[in-house]
Amino acid sequence: MNAADSAPNAALVARQAALTLLQAALGRRGGLDEALSAGRYLSLSPQDRGFARAVVMATLRRLGPIDRALDARLKREPPPPARDLLRLGLAQAFWLDTPAFAAVDTTVSLAPKPLRGLVNAVLRAILREGPPAESPELLAPPWLLARWRAAFGEGEALAVAARIAVEPATDLTLRDPADAAMAEAVEAEALGEGSLRLVRRGDVATWPGYDEGRWWVQDRAAALPARLLHVRPGETALDLCAAPGGKTLQLAAAGAVVTALDQSAGRLRRVTAALARTGLSAETHAVDAGAWPDAREFDAVLLDAPCTSTGTFRRHPDVLWNARPGDIPALAQVQARLLSSAAARVKAGGRLVYSVCSLEPEEGEAQVRGFLAAHPGFALDMVEAGEAGSPAASLAGEGWLRILPHHAEGGLDGFFIARLRRAKAQ
Ligand SMILES: C[S@@+](CC[C@H](N)C(=O)[O-])C[C@H]1O[C@@H](n2cnc3c(N)ncnc32)[C@H](O)[C@@H]1O
Repeated sequence: MNAADSAPNAALVARQAALTLLQAALGRRGGLDEALSAGRYLSLSPQDRGFARAVVMATLRRLGPIDRALDARLKREPPPPARDLLRLGLAQAFWLDTPAFAAVDTTVSLAPKPLRGLVNAVLRAILREGPPAESPELLAPPWLLARWRAAFGEGEALAVAARIAVEPATDLTLRDPADAAMAEAVEAEALGEGSLRLVRRGDVATWPGYDEGRWWVQDRAAALPARLLHVRPGETALDLCAAPGGKTLQLAAAGAVVTALDQSAGRLRRVTAALARTGLSAETHAVDAGAWPDAREFDAVLLDAPCTSTGTFRRHPDVLWNARPGDIPALAQVQARLLSSAAARVKAGGRLVYSVCSLEPEEGEAQVRGFLAAHPGFALDMVEAGEAGSPAASLAGEGWLRILPHHAEGGLDGFFIARLRRAKAQ
């Protein structure tokens, strides 16, 4: 991790990159992903890229406790980029194996001259105190924690928040769930139903089986919506919001004749690339799924809708700090419109799975309740206990899944998943 410390300039290059990434991550939704695929970042050495990313992720996972410690020391808000530099300096010294003197020296060197005295003094003072407590109350933005308390109760909300600081493993989905040799080849734990879990880090494209398309990266919770459709070979399946494509790949791998839509042509290219790598096929269209001019109906329809993504904080802690209360009703409107369009594509007797990687009830439970009230031709098709490898703790009395990130050992992404069935023709 300390390759970046070998030469003074190299050390500063990696830290400057970390500052750019952190500013992008906290600037706007999607900013971190964009910065991670920008030429400026990609042109760095693999060591510098790895270090910069690790520092930023460690910072974002403990942003609440770090800011609390800074607020206690700063008499007034210093001009930028002082706070971001201090955040990164503390994260390096407390949670990466950077020696405190190196964290201080490099952080001070990156600060504009007039801020160096302040950065030096604040950093040294907090380093003397030791790492701030990572209590769940501090890890989540207060407004989101208040929402989770209201939705899930005190104990569950704190268990969710506690997961923010925990670095997740990487999960893969096998193209062929019976490919038992793959688990051994990548030194993974087999989670059942074709999901693997690994602690390996680095560029997944260099891992065994990648080039042959024997697996793709997919959280074990994200693998559930497509599995719950139980498509049979030759059935038709429509994936309305397909990119980057993990669920499309699952449907195609199960033998369905798949049509995949996504509004974003750029993101849809990731689906076609993944299909090519895995040797699977699907018809793809870059289109607004709510206005797709095609009259076909399908045996199985999947709507993995755009959402606040608050359930994905284990790998994307920045989502928590960019989400705004107004995003929830705005996205809920989009979801309701797409759910109505999805319903119109389901054959009589066919099934529809609705999923969101959000922890917010307006995007999950409330969507499905509203949908059922407005669509009497559909009924809930209850998920069974443990079905498709779903955690027992996630099955709600209504028969849908409300997956919280602590519901399985080692964690998984937060999701809401409901299966609906259209009545058979009379
Ligand atoms: C949660 S992601 C889907 C993830 C995907 N199902 C997977 O497993 O990889 C939501 C997707 O919806 C797409 N999207 C948003 N609005 C849309 C619309 N009106 N029509 C079609 N796609 C849309 C976004 O571009 C984004 O790729």
